[in-house]
Amino acid sequence: MQIINSRRLLFLVTVSAVLIVVVLAATVNKYHTVNKDPGLSFTEGFLWEAPDTSRIPLTDDGMLIRYGRDLIANTSYYLGPKGRVAAITNGMNCQNCHLDAGTRSWANNYSAVFSTYPRFRERSGTVENIYKRVNDCIDRSLNGHPIDTMGREMQAISAYIIWLGQKVPRNIKPLAAGIRDLAFLDRSADPIRGQAVYVQKCQRCHGDDGQGLLNPDSISYQYPPLWGKNSYNTGAGLFRMSRFAGYVRDNMPFDAPNNSAPLTDEQAWDVAAFVNSQPRSTKDYSKDYPNIAGKPIDHPVGPFKDNFSAEQHKYGPFDPIRLAKEKNKTK
Ligand code: HEC
Ligand code: HEC
Repeated sequence: MQIINSRRLLFLVTVSAVLIVVVLAATVNKYHTVNKDPGLSFTEGFLWEAPDTSRIPLTDDGMLIRYGRDLIANTSYYLGPKGRVAAITNGMNCQNCHLDAGTRSWANNYSAVFSTYPRFRERSGTVENIYKRVNDCIDRSLNGHPIDTMGREMQAISAYIIWLGQKVPRNIKPLAAGIRDLAFLDRSADPIRGQAVYVQKCQRCHGDDGQGLLNPDSISYQYPPLWGKNSYNTGAGLFRMSRFAGYVRDNMPFDAPNNSAPLTDEQAWDVAAFVNSQPRSTKDYSKDYPNIAGKPIDHPVGPFKDNFSAEQHKYGPFDPIRLAKEKNKTK
C-alpha cells in the first residue's frame, strides 16, 4: 500500500512538473502563442515597421525584390492598358489601394501576408498561397487577367511581399495591418448623404464623374477612378462596404498629412454607399464562397445563409445580421 502511494505521488509530482514547464514555456513564448485561426490574431503593441528599402541586397534576388516593389507602385506602366510587359489590367496601381507600396499603417499594408499565407480563405473555399492572393487582386481590383505564377512579374511581386514581412512570426498579424474594421452604424449607410460627402471631399481629385484623372502620359493615373469600367469590379474587396469605409476613413482625403482631416465613421460609411452604388464591371460570383455560411455579412450578393435582404447585406444595418450569425454559431 505504502509503495503504491509513493509511486502515485511520484507520478503526480512528475506530471505537475511537466505541466508547469509547459505553461511557463507558453507564457514566456507568448509571441508565438498558437492561434487556431491563422491571420486573425493580433500581437498587442507590436506595431510593424517596413524594412528599409536601402537594405535590399545588391544581388539577383535583390533585383527581383526591387522589381516587385516597382510593379506594386507602377503597375499600370508594366501591366496597364498600355503596359510594357502586357496589357492585362485596368490602369490602376496596386499602390492606389496598398499605399506606399504596401507599407503604410491601416492603408492595407502587406505586413501580415508572409506570416499568414498560405491560409484558408472562405471566398475560394481553398488554401491560398501568395500567388493566388495576388492574382485575386489582379482579377478583381485591377479587373484584369491573372498572370503566370512562374513568370518574372509574379515572382518579383511575391519576393517583395515576402521581403516586407520577413520579420513577422508565423501566424501573427501586426497591429495596423490591412484595413481597419469600423464600428457599424445603427442605420443603413445612405448613398444620398454619401453623395454630399463625395462632392465636398472627394470630387476635386476623383472627378465629378468618378473617373479620376490620367497623368499627361495617359499611361497611369494621378487620381485613380472610383467607378466605371476602369475601376475595380464587383468581385473586389473594396466593393464590400466595410472594406471601402475602413480604407477611406483612415486614408482619404489623400492630401491631409497623417490623416489630419479624417472623415467621421458616418461619412466613411455613407460615401462607401454612394461610390459602391455607381456602375462598374461585374464579376461572376458563382464560384465564390462555396460555403455560404462563411460569407462576410457585408457581401452584397446572395445566396445567403440568413433571411436578411440583399439590400441589407449591402448597406446595413449590419448589427442585426452579425447578431443573428453569432446566435446561430452558439446554437
Ligand atoms: C482597388 C483596390 C486594390 C487594388 C488596386 C489592389 N488591391 Fe490588393 N487588396 C485590396 C483589398 C480591399 C484587399 C483586402 C483587404 C481586407 O480584406 O481587409 C486586398 C488584399 C490584398 C492582399 C492580401 C493582404 C492580406 O493581408 O491578406 C494581397 C497580397 C494583395 N491585395 C496584393 C495586391 C497586389 C499585388 C495588387 C496589384 C497587382 C493589388 N493587391 C491591387 C484592394 C486592392
Ligand atoms: C487630394 C486628392 C484626393 C482626395 C481629395 C481624395 N482622394 Fe482618394 N485617392 C487619391 C489618390 C492620389 C489615390 C491613390 C493613392 C496612391 O496611389 O498613392 C487615391 C485612392 C483612393 C482609393 C483607392 C483607389 C481607387 O481608385 O479605388 C479610394 C477608394 C479613394 N481614393 C476614395 C476617396 C474618397 C471616398 C475620397 C473622399 C472622401 C477621396 N478618395 C478623396 C487622391 C484623393
